[in-house]
Amino acid sequence: MTWIRKARIGDIPTVYTLEAQSFKDPYPPLLLMRLLALYPYGFLVAEREGRVIGYIIFRTVGEKGHIISLAVEERLRKRKIGAELLKKAEEILRKMGMAGMWLEVRESNIPAQRFYARQGFKKVGVAEGYYADGEDGLIYYRTLSS
Ligand SMILES: CC(C)(COP(=O)(O)OP(=O)(O)OC[C@H]1O[C@@H](n2cnc3c(N)ncnc32)[C@H](O)[C@@H]1OP(=O)(O)O)[C@@H](O)C(=O)NCCC(=O)NCCS
Repeated sequence: MTWIRKARIGDIPTVYTLEAQSFKDPYPPLLLMRLLALYPYGFLVAEREGRVIGYIIFRTVGEKGHIISLAVEERLRKRKIGAELLKKAEEILRKMGMAGMWLEVRESNIPAQRFYARQGFKKVGVAEGYYADGEDGLIYYRTLSS
């Protein structure tokens, strides 16, 4: 059974392991701790048998939600855990009165683009040179109906 709960400080080392497994330039543990302190409503983890296997980090900017990071343990992907995390984030953002939510994804990250398209996001723009290595970020957006 997988359940989704708010992250705690003790989850940071595992979240970092998942970040490092999933991204070229992972957020370091200190930054993850800072994000947890800044956005306590916006840091959720998926837990299975006492183990953290995925997480989502998000924040609000004006009337919109911004997904900062989302990842699922590599060998447990494609089992709807990512979709569940996103759904919980959506619920929270909707309750906070947000009109929509957006995220950036690497141009080369085709699996994640397919995932977001399946979740109802549309590509709305390009953030040129968004990533540290100069790669463009594609901006995906979805409205949140009440
Ligand atoms: C993106 C990610 C979070 C998706 O999580 P997940 O738990 O594997 O996704 P789900 O099982 O919830 O997938 C939901 C839907 O997306 C589709 N999908 C997921 N991964 C896919 C892939 N690699 N290729 C094509 N479609 C995919 C699924 O087929 C599913 O569609 P369905 O509803 O028709 O069955 C996960 O692949 C991941 O951690 N990737 C590495 C980190 C990353 O790229 N994060 C996003 C950065 S912006």
